[in-house]
Amino acid sequence: MVALDGPSGTGKTTVARTLAGRLSARYLDTGAMYRLVTLAVLRSGTDPGDRAAVAHLAHDAEFSIGTDPERPEVRLAGQDVAAEIRGPEVTGAVSAVSAVPQVRELLVARQRRIIADVLAETGGIVVEGRDIGTTVAPDAPLKVYLTASAEVRAARRNTQDTAAGRQTSVAEARESVQRRDRLDSSRAASPLRAAGDAVPVDTSELTIDQVIVALAELARRRG
Ligand code: C5P
Repeated sequence: MVALDGPSGTGKTTVARTLAGRLSARYLDTGAMYRLVTLAVLRSGTDPGDRAAVAHLAHDAEFSIGTDPERPEVRLAGQDVAAEIRGPEVTGAVSAVSAVPQVRELLVARQRRIIADVLAETGGIVVEGRDIGTTVAPDAPLKVYLTASAEVRAARRNTQDTAAGRQTSVAEARESVQRRDRLDSSRAASPLRAAGDAVPVDTSELTIDQVIVALAELARRRG
């Protein structure tokens, strides 16, 4: 198993999916799970800042997440919502929802079950998120913490937004990335931080391929 943590814009998702494919492993995007709950909150008209209501809703939300790195399915009430969970509404509200301790408890338990099932059945899994090495799987044999400079992360996020047909500027992307980092790092319940035994990898000056080659080598030795 590989635990891959770090803030947004570090190339985490691309790296995690490609690495999983290369290792013939499964892939779990825990961020997508927080995004799914956030979409359920928004669709129900619940205020994302109402912690009790959010906790209640998370409990009842009917969602599923796949572990195929080629096509990771995300469904809410049976509907494919892969594009919708990446939209600006969900991105703007997800940090508030993911800071609710009951939401984290619920999702961490579910993540641990998925990981245990995969490890029992097929063997390998690459799990990406913010608290995988610290909370979800502190015993993971390989933990990696991806970083990149604020400028590079904003530029990458802007490129992704543009590719997805969303009109934003680099300045807006920078503001959004920094806001989310601030909220994710300062929350009381398992904040974003590197595990003490994680291998730090700064991706600012590296291509995705260089990162993958480095991590595949680490995984072969430790994963
Ligand atoms: O990785 P992604 O940008 O999709 O994550 C969306 C949000 O979900 C993060 O900004 C964070 O608030 C939350 N998250 C989390 N713990 C994780 C994964 C994501 O709190 N393990």
